[in-house]
Amino acid sequence: MTEKYRKLQQQFLCCYPVNKMAWSSVKLPLSWEEQQALMDATCRHPLNQRHPVRRSYVEAFIKQLMHLLKDQDELHDDIYGSLCNRMAEGSDTGTVYSYKHYILQPDACITLRESNSFVSEGTTGLCTWEAALALADYLVEHPQLVRGKNVVELGAGAGLLGILLKLPAMSLQAGQVLITDGSEPCVQLMRENIALNFADTAKEQAPKAEQLQWDAVSEFPWQDYAETDLLLAADVIYDDSQFDALLGAMDFFYTRRGSQLEMLLASTVRNMDTLHKFMTKLRLCNYKVTPCANVSACASHFCRDHTAAVQVISIRR
Ligand SMILES: C[S@@+](CC[C@H](N)C(=O)[O-])C[C@H]1O[C@@H](n2cnc3c(N)ncnc32)[C@H](O)[C@@H]1O
Repeated sequence: MTEKYRKLQQQFLCCYPVNKMAWSSVKLPLSWEEQQALMDATCRHPLNQRHPVRRSYVEAFIKQLMHLLKDQDELHDDIYGSLCNRMAEGSDTGTVYSYKHYILQPDACITLRESNSFVSEGTTGLCTWEAALALADYLVEHPQLVRGKNVVELGAGAGLLGILLKLPAMSLQAGQVLITDGSEPCVQLMRENIALNFADTAKEQAPKAEQLQWDAVSEFPWQDYAETDLLLAADVIYDDSQFDALLGAMDFFYTRRGSQLEMLLASTVRNMDTLHKFMTKLRLCNYKVTPCANVSACASHFCRDHTAAVQVISIRR
């Protein structure tokens, strides 16, 4: 029975915008059993019971569902119950963190603890941005880019990409994966998220998370890590005061690995001038930039809603 609500389930668990959900999969009227199955697939799903999604999201979901069922004689107790429980909990204010669950295949799911705010604790990295989801989709579609490669991610935020690359159920077979960020709260969050997703995995098979400021890249103990084959970065081109630090970090990696190193950089197209400025700097530094396939059109394993345009480029030198 829950099978027919699979899409809604996937969307609910990663907080996909309520007004864009696959409501057309709900064929009215819903019997008592069907209402039960819909609630079991979403609010009462074991993942949500254990690591709940944002409360305000649950409220919006239930209200939308009640609106859909407004002409029905019987509304399941669980629907009322979920809304009452949600109301009794009060507002989300003060609850800084909640969870998102990305169901990628029947047996592959990534759970991330994330901040409810886009900016908190002095960083933008405590939640997952559209560019990271787009790059994750791109890597799932092109596993040959990561197979056997030792990967370093810069500005990794909550840690989605590194977790994806090492998730046993996804079999992407990346080599050593090191996810880094300059912000200490991000590194703590990445470690928590690694622990959440690799509880049953040997420590050496999980990604590692370390603090790394772009302007201090040469001070990092690289002798403890394998040579980097692939650099990843998502949504790091928004503040031009950080461009030189980022280019300095890139220069450090390319100087060590030369043409053997590829970087995949995903950027949300918010401000064309800022992106253009960075692209110009890349060319001045003799990087060869190749736009990758149009990621807006590629299948979304991560339930992206495609409202933000994201560009992914490959950078070589
Ligand atoms: C918009 S967030 C993107 C996070 C993640 N990549 C994503 O797309 O979800 C930018 C990230 O870059 C990190 N960052 C910004 N400037 C940095 C620097 N100079 N050194 C290291 N990390 C930096 C921030 O701490 C933040 O986590």
